Amino acid sequence: MSADTPPPREFDIALPGAFAPGALEGLGDSAFDDVPDTEQIDVGDLEGDPAIAFRRTLGMFATGVTVLTTRVGEKAHGMTANAFMSVSLRPPLVLISLDRRTRLCGMLHEGSRFGVSVLAQRQWELSDTYARSARDGVEPEFVVIRETPLVQDALAHLVARVVRSYWGGDHSLFLGHVEYARYGEGEPLLFHGGRYERMLGDSELFARLPPELLDQILLRGSEVKYGEGEKLMERGEMSDTMMLVVEGSVRVERPGRSLTLGVGALIGEIEVLDSGSGRTATVTAETDTTCIVVRRSELLEGLREDPQAAIALLGILASRFREEG
Ligand SMILES: Cc1cc2nc3c(=O)[nH]c(=O)nc-3n(C[C@H](O)[C@H](O)[C@H](O)COP(=O)(O)O)c2cc1C
Repeated sequence: MSADTPPPREFDIALPGAFAPGALEGLGDSAFDDVPDTEQIDVGDLEGDPAIAFRRTLGMFATGVTVLTTRVGEKAHGMTANAFMSVSLRPPLVLISLDRRTRLCGMLHEGSRFGVSVLAQRQWELSDTYARSARDGVEPEFVVIRETPLVQDALAHLVARVVRSYWGGDHSLFLGHVEYARYGEGEPLLFHGGRYERMLGDSELFARLPPELLDQILLRGSEVKYGEGEKLMERGEMSDTMMLVVEGSVRVERPGRSLTLGVGALIGEIEVLDSGSGRTATVTAETDTTCIVVRRSELLEGLREDPQAAIALLGILASRFREEG
């Protein structure tokens, strides 16, 4: 993120005639009350278990990722959820869908408050933690707004009071009247096809790097911006990072050789794996340039997780040695 990122904006929502619990009385029963639960889904020519085909079909709908929270005594309880949607601006309403087996589902009722923290891309580990019952991973800091815990540094926050809950098959739907909302700047964490994704504007990247490696770099790295003429690295200096150019271009200078690299280029891919060696080149931003910077430990974790990414990186290293030769 750039240093001149505008400050986050926040506002309390107090519309005229604000939504009071009970104001939806008389709107009628849920339209879903008489849905038969044994009906088979037609999944066309998709093979295998129709339930899995159905789940995968739903997974094609790309979403953001939230951590939903509520206060339990003096503690915060949270869970990862992507079944969140906006419903109405006036009155301000949002909807969440919770599996009946989740603990949060048992905690919410009409009148209680829940918080929605829209996660930033770098918070994907938090999403993992809050999607496991054991909660044995990264612990967030919470801020408390209207007696409701919210994940610190999330991209957006909402606090809502449950005004209605509905039957939703094996899920329960909670309609919340929004009392507080704020948002900041940053990149959202995306979820699509059962995995985290990252927003990218440039298809050139996909053409230049094998997708398995690109996935790991984008997931684990963080964005750094360099101004024109700024040095990304200096020959000989010790470092344990690799960079992927996602915007702009850089000048790479080695003794007897210099070249310009653009979007999709990897820099420092040899040093990142050989932690004892210094930088082999001095690299300077030719224009305003954005890179995804991955640390050695993060990269190794990614390569361990997906051996195809490791093979892709080996392929790139091999081609470098061929070029040098
Ligand atoms: C990206 C992602 C999105 C999820 N979305 C939902 C959701 O919308 N509703 C839901 O009930 N569970 C959802 N889950 C699963 C819950 O996070 C998971 O079951 C969690 O352990 C529930 O909390 P609990 O163990 O405290 O009951 C999601 C998981 C992930 C990884």
